[in-house]
Amino acid sequence: MGKHLPLRSVLYFLSAFLWTHPLAADEKFSIGEQKAKTCMTCHGEDGISSIESYPNLRGQKMAYLITALRSYQTRERSGGLAVLMQQQADALSDQDISDIAYYYSKLGVQEQRQ
Ligand code: HEC
Repeated sequence: MGKHLPLRSVLYFLSAFLWTHPLAADEKFSIGEQKAKTCMTCHGEDGISSIESYPNLRGQKMAYLITALRSYQTRERSGGLAVLMQQQADALSDQDISDIAYYYSKLGVQEQRQ
């Protein structure tokens, strides 16, 4: 009987590893997607904007998105249409920025894998 315990533990940890990791990632993706609803009015439902002067966000690098949003908050990015984004960025917490940046960085990439 004692022999079964280690095997069971190994299986438990294996399944825990296999299941929690993709799930944790998908959870951040869905949370980001929920938080990005307001962004979609300008940046498009699929992260591709239909307005020439509004940028696409789909598949953009996560670190770049975070830096961009922080720069709107600090007003390092200003002038032109940046004022639109400053208001948007002000409403976001660091956690929101992380979740939304994750979502847009995986958008497109994630869909092709599923
Ligand atoms: C009212 C329309 C509008 C909304 C809503 C909006 N944006 Fe924007 N966004 C813009 C415009 C316009 C720009 C270009 C601003 C500029 O010239 O700096 C921009 C730029 C950006 C950039 C910089 C892109 C780059 O390539 O440098 C990021 C990142 C961004 N938006 C993220 C978001 C996120 C995240 C949200 C939702 C929380 C959001 N935006 C909501 C209009 C909008």
